[in-house]
Amino acid sequence: MSEHKIEVVINGRPHRATVEGRKTLCDYLRGDAGYTGVHVGCEHGVCGACTVMVDGKAVRSCLMLAVQADGCDVVTAEGLAEPNGTLHPVQAAMRDCHGLQCGFCTPGVVMTLASLTGGNDAPTEDALIAAMSGHVCRCTGYQGIRRAIRQLTGQAQDEGAHA
Ligand code: FES
Ligand code: FES
Repeated sequence: MSEHKIEVVINGRPHRATVEGRKTLCDYLRGDAGYTGVHVGCEHGVCGACTVMVDGKAVRSCLMLAVQADGCDVVTAEGLAEPNGTLHPVQAAMRDCHGLQCGFCTPGVVMTLASLTGGNDAPTEDALIAAMSGHVCRCTGYQGIRRAIRQLTGQAQDEGAHA
């Protein structure tokens, strides 16, 4: 069994660890580093629950080895809000539009949306909805997620947050 030393910045904080070569990034983040906002569902890249940002891009952390994150900047759902507690716009939209039920899928959904909305080019509603095709919500909370996307893209209509 091979072991590797890694250095990873997680939510702005440097972390050093020794990990087995076979350890996935999600198991390292959740099990070792304690970022339990990283949820683990299918463990083979289908459900999207484990999505985090690695160097600014949304990544399924069940499909990446921890050792591959050596030297990377990782953001989990815990790292999105401002230090003073102000929610990231994606988190605020999900809250405002009731974009969750049990919340199991929510961190992954939020991380994908946050990865697409942080740049200078505002994504379209269609682009964000298309990105949601990579996320499974077992509660079928898709309409709330869709409303949150409409709020994010400035197209929220007067249809009521809980319609
Ligand atoms: S747990 Fe990673 S995609 Fe499902
Ligand atoms: S809110 Fe329960 S899985 Fe999506």
